[in-house]
Amino acid sequence: MTGFRAEAPSDRPLRVIQVGAGGMGQAWLGTVAADPDVELVGIVDLNLDAAKASAQALGSGAPGAQELAVGTDLAALVEQTRPDAILDITVPVAHHPVTTQALFLGLPVLGEKPVAPTIAQSLSLAAAAEVSGELFMVSQSRRRNDQLVDLRQHAALLGDVGIVTTEFYKAPHFGGFREEMDDVLLLDMAIHPFDSVRYLLGTEPVSVYCESYNPSWSWYSGDAAATALFEFEGGVRYEYDGSWCSPGFETSWNGSWRVSGEHGSALWNGDDSPTSEVDGGLGVPAPAASLGDGIAGSLTAFTRALRTGEAPDGEVHGNIMSLAMVEAAIASKNQRRRILIDEVLEGALTEAIAAETRDDVRERLTSWGSVRSALAAVGSRVA
Ligand SMILES: NC(=O)c1ccc[n+]([C@@H]2O[C@H](COP(=O)([O-])OP(=O)(O)OC[C@H]3O[C@@H](n4cnc5c(N)ncnc54)[C@H](O)[C@@H]3O)[C@@H](O)[C@H]2O)c1
Repeated sequence: MTGFRAEAPSDRPLRVIQVGAGGMGQAWLGTVAADPDVELVGIVDLNLDAAKASAQALGSGAPGAQELAVGTDLAALVEQTRPDAILDITVPVAHHPVTTQALFLGLPVLGEKPVAPTIAQSLSLAAAAEVSGELFMVSQSRRRNDQLVDLRQHAALLGDVGIVTTEFYKAPHFGGFREEMDDVLLLDMAIHPFDSVRYLLGTEPVSVYCESYNPSWSWYSGDAAATALFEFEGGVRYEYDGSWCSPGFETSWNGSWRVSGEHGSALWNGDDSPTSEVDGGLGVPAPAASLGDGIAGSLTAFTRALRTGEAPDGEVHGNIMSLAMVEAAIASKNQRRRILIDEVLEGALTEAIAAETRDDVRERLTSWGSVRSALAAVGSRVA
């Protein structure tokens, strides 16, 4: 059983340092500023000018306002400001070093998705959270959507669910790195619906067969389209069809969903309230608790977890399987065969143990039985 320290005082805001002041960092700074339960005490970025400009935009140093601490060295800023927690909004390749450093400085971390660029690094981070006794939560913001919660409630009306599909057809011209990267759709976007279907079904994936390809007119150099068929526990099939180069009748950024069950079907277009038809009539789902909205919802859940000790949705162990779905889908399309998720997880554990530089984290990784059972063992309280 894993656990984490829950020592955040409830009589004052949670004091945080944000690491990473790039594009998504700006959205987080705005969200922190709007949350009365959280207080920003510093900004760290390798690009000091970006950190300074962000602090200035927040009014730091203006007449009558305090100067916000900024810097390039996280440990120095922690020493200076004594925060309660760290937000890691850096680029994916920096997630492992930044979050590991923060956890072993004795601080809990809320980080942007993906956990890390590889499952191996993600397992190292989960083990680091266990060893340090600090909470590491990943913000997978598209899961925090009341319509998705509602779709899950509709799905509960259908009896046995056997089939779930997502169609995702968009035509964005991003420019920049996305148009150059390999497996762009699977790596950069598909993790969102993969994570959502795990929430929807409440079960875990077993295997995947995937093909990805690049339509003749695509303006991406990597594969901008993919079809993946996952088997979930209990034999449920999840089919994902996606393209990032399909103009015309575009779907929502959340994709368009169908859930097919024994007594009926539920539909969600990704933007409006879901509906269902059950035994020939309209389904009326039971209300359910909200997970909050986007990154603001993640921040609220993180703060609450640090005060109550209850493991939040997004605790690192519970998030890694979404990344495993991406990595397994890419392995399947590369090897042109059905891939077992456990194959990918166990291979990643071997890789993680070989690459680990901290003895205590390597020892923890080595002590795990199967990765699947280690990831399922998310505890709820206090070292
Ligand atoms: N949830 C979403 O919908 C969503 C959308 C966009 C981006 N993201 C995620 O947010 C994260 C950040 O993306 P972005 O678009 O802001 O990237 P970005 O490149 O715009 O900004 C990243 C910032 O991190 C800084 N940085 C990099 N390494 C660092 C380190 N070791 N220490 C301190 N600072 C460092 C960079 O200097 C840069 O300012 C990524 O993980 C990305 O996947 C999520």
